[in-house]
Amino acid sequence: MGRKGTYSRREFLGASAAVGATLVLPKNVFAQGSDTIKVGLIGCGGRGTGAVIDAANADPGVVLWAMADVFKDRIDGSANTLRDNLKDRYKVTDDRKFVGFNAYEYVLMSGVDVVILTAPPGFRPAHLRASIEHGKHVFMEKPIATDAPGVRSVLGSSEMARQKGLAIVAGTQRRHDVAYRECMHRIHDGAIGDVVACYAYWNQGGLWMHTRRPEWTDMEWQLRNWLYFTWLSGDIIVEQHIHNIDVCLWAKGKLPVKAISLAGRQARTDPAYGHVFDHFATEFEWDDGSKLISMCRQIDGTASRVEELVVGTKGTSNANTVIRGEGAWRFDGDRPNPYMLEHRNLIQSIRSGNLINEGRQVAETTMTAIMGRMAGYTGQEITYEQALNDKVVLAPDHLAFGPVPVPPVAIPGRTS
Ligand SMILES: NC(=O)c1ccc[n+]([C@@H]2O[C@H](COP(=O)([O-])OP(=O)(O)OC[C@H]3O[C@@H](n4cnc5c(N)ncnc54)[C@H](O)[C@@H]3O)[C@@H](O)[C@H]2O)c1
Repeated sequence: MGRKGTYSRREFLGASAAVGATLVLPKNVFAQGSDTIKVGLIGCGGRGTGAVIDAANADPGVVLWAMADVFKDRIDGSANTLRDNLKDRYKVTDDRKFVGFNAYEYVLMSGVDVVILTAPPGFRPAHLRASIEHGKHVFMEKPIATDAPGVRSVLGSSEMARQKGLAIVAGTQRRHDVAYRECMHRIHDGAIGDVVACYAYWNQGGLWMHTRRPEWTDMEWQLRNWLYFTWLSGDIIVEQHIHNIDVCLWAKGKLPVKAISLAGRQARTDPAYGHVFDHFATEFEWDDGSKLISMCRQIDGTASRVEELVVGTKGTSNANTVIRGEGAWRFDGDRPNPYMLEHRNLIQSIRSGNLINEGRQVAETTMTAIMGRMAGYTGQEITYEQALNDKVVLAPDHLAFGPVPVPPVAIPGRTS
């Protein structure tokens, strides 16, 4: 197995992350269905393990070649599941399992064609930058950063990928869901007239939490509970609600210019849950005065709602299966698993050379969600320009297994 290392803030942002980076030219075109595509997994948790299975289901040529995680036990757990699922397409040898903060660089140097980036979102900018520098095609989970410097890094990496002929697909899987795609096509064709308002919801109970063990350093505790630390997850509006916000930006076809938000941490107040909020109610506004009303909540015992509503001058739509009004329509086709389709679309794009690059799109949605978080934390109206140009890096100065202070819980009106 590889080694543990420590990391500076510059490397964390992906300013120049690749260790001894030999810039490898991409091998863009693979013979349809025949050439093997070697996949490397970086971040071997629940979603990463699932994404490898989705990629294997998407294309018979996919094999899993190398794995990286900051913890050995996470690699072991994922490897057991993937060995059972992938059978002879599981090709990971012990010397291609890498552990530590710099483990991802060894996966990038192991001969993989495609990487799956599924570590906590705070690491995505560095992992993406190094992947592109190494000439790898990328599937990366959302969100793609937790602060504005991270988003700007991803915007740069996405442009670099375009110049180098590399594909990037993001884990905003609704963009690959055939019902969403068909419905959105109709909305963009005018089925509900002009879009004048959107509503987005992800309200649910709480998520998992791992009780701190005495032997865990602050860093290990935070990494194992990354959802509850803004430098790692972005908070719930960025980490989870991004899906619904993304659908609304897709429907409207442009980015909002500003946001206000009422948000706080009311029920999930135990320090075991870090410092993130448990609810946000946010109004995003577009330059034509139209608005996206968004709510997200993770509070046990409260009502669930996960959906979007798009309101137009001639009708309304849930953005996937139903349009009401003049262009009334109902989706009734087959609806394959979008988690598999995002990998099929990525791999077909690599095999054909007709490359998909969703980097900018998911970076802009991530930035919009971060703008909502900033509005919630500060209690101020925040513009997109302000948010995008923000200089604050949330990650600790140095990534190492030791002390990492927990920021105070934000207080609207007091937090700047
Ligand atoms: N699209 C979706 O529907 C969906 C669903 C679930 C999760 N996700 C996203 O997938 C990502 C992973 O979520 P998850 O649920 O798998 O979390 P998880 O905690 O199960 O997995 C994260 C893994 O990354 C590892 N890790 C932490 N720091 C790392 C580093 N620096 N380098 C390498 N590995 C590191 C952790 O040890 C862990 O094994 C997140 O971005 C999350 O938002 C997306």
